[in-house]
Amino acid sequence: MSEDATNFDRRSMLKTLTAGAVCTLAAPGMAHSAPQISAAEFPAFPKGLSPESLAGDESFWAKVALFYDTAQGIVNLEHGYWGKMSRPVQEAYVDNTRMVNTDLSYYARKHYKDDERVSTLKVAKALGAREDEVVLTRNATESIHNLIRQYNRLEPDDAILYTDIDYPSFKDTMRWLAASGNLEAVEVKLPAQANQQQILDKYIEAFDKHPNLKLMLLTHVSNQHGLILPVAKISAIAKLRGIDVICDCAQSWGLLDFNITELNVDWAGFNLHKWIGSPVGVGALYMKKGSLKKVSPYPGESDPKNTSVSARVHTATVNFASILTLPAAIDFHNMLGGANKEARLRYLHALWASEARKMPHIEVLGGSDGESCSGMGAFRLVGRTTLEDAKNLQQRLENEFGVFTVVRVGLSSGCCIRVTPQVFTSANDISQLLIALKNLG
Ligand SMILES: Cc1ncc(COP(=O)(O)O)c(C=O)c1O
Repeated sequence: MSEDATNFDRRSMLKTLTAGAVCTLAAPGMAHSAPQISAAEFPAFPKGLSPESLAGDESFWAKVALFYDTAQGIVNLEHGYWGKMSRPVQEAYVDNTRMVNTDLSYYARKHYKDDERVSTLKVAKALGAREDEVVLTRNATESIHNLIRQYNRLEPDDAILYTDIDYPSFKDTMRWLAASGNLEAVEVKLPAQANQQQILDKYIEAFDKHPNLKLMLLTHVSNQHGLILPVAKISAIAKLRGIDVICDCAQSWGLLDFNITELNVDWAGFNLHKWIGSPVGVGALYMKKGSLKKVSPYPGESDPKNTSVSARVHTATVNFASILTLPAAIDFHNMLGGANKEARLRYLHALWASEARKMPHIEVLGGSDGESCSGMGAFRLVGRTTLEDAKNLQQRLENEFGVFTVVRVGLSSGCCIRVTPQVFTSANDISQLLIALKNLG
């Protein structure tokens, strides 16, 4: 008998098999991940406040922080690695993990595809994309690596472009691509501090200098210092010149509130485990409808009519529970509000960066205008740009001042310390960083 012909009643059978497991009561196709809070339980949004005004309301954000488990002993300002699940999302994930671990292949072979589709739809909708433009991956790296490696329009002597602020692994992949295809690799160096126009000018200068450019990597928010790039404008000019753009949105989605169509790019890679707050192990690959031709299917996959974005990856066995928990993560994110999150994170950045800019011994890196600054930022001691300088600084912050940060290596101007608050970070936490910054002189 085929699996589909099995006439077990799934609900009653799973109930019997896993008595007590809440999640197995869910119907197939309805993610086993309904958020476990309702809007009514969420702190009331003070009436009439814009996201920017709400951003400074410590009592509101203290209530939001109650939805997250709190770590003791250190002020953690290194939330650019991955995000913390809110407690309702974590509970959904635990339930989903228990269900998958109980029902195993019976669930995976019969019902996972339906539930995965629910999650994909939810991600596509949250991104402002069509369902057939998105495939789930394991992380942003899988999405971007596939786009770079499977791009099929390069010929010897074409040029490909990336910048110093791009993600180190992707710069390596671009260098590998250039070396393996006899291509010219163009690395643009962006200034240590820049505004939107200066960034745009740098790209235009590179486009003018290298008329043989065919493909470029463009990072929406840099993992080095949180610089926001004017992606839509750069992409519009690139398109006019016949340059294809792969956009890295690993740090931007959820840190910034945007819709994929606003970026004006055909291809982008995301994850949901940083700023959307999903369990670790979920990414997404976006390919605009009609743009599949230039990116071959994953080796061995076939898509003769070029209609399936899902043929661009082959993820095989995944963390089923992470994917099942996506709807809960997106619901929580939406409940808090993308614009509110972005404004709060920008506010926390401004709290320390605006003071630090006045300190003669500190160099703040990244955006030099509001539009170019995100919640993530970076700094170093003036003139101290080596890896050893940055490592010492990170250690001093941790050991002398109880503030945890991370060293970033990759900017052409030198190494730095990245500072990344989260929505549960308080103004008091930022004060602790400011005390440290003052005393580092
Ligand atoms: C800008 C940027 N791109 C890509 C990645 C890789 O993301 P993932 O870990 O989801 O593969 C990161 C991770 O820190 C990042 O900051």
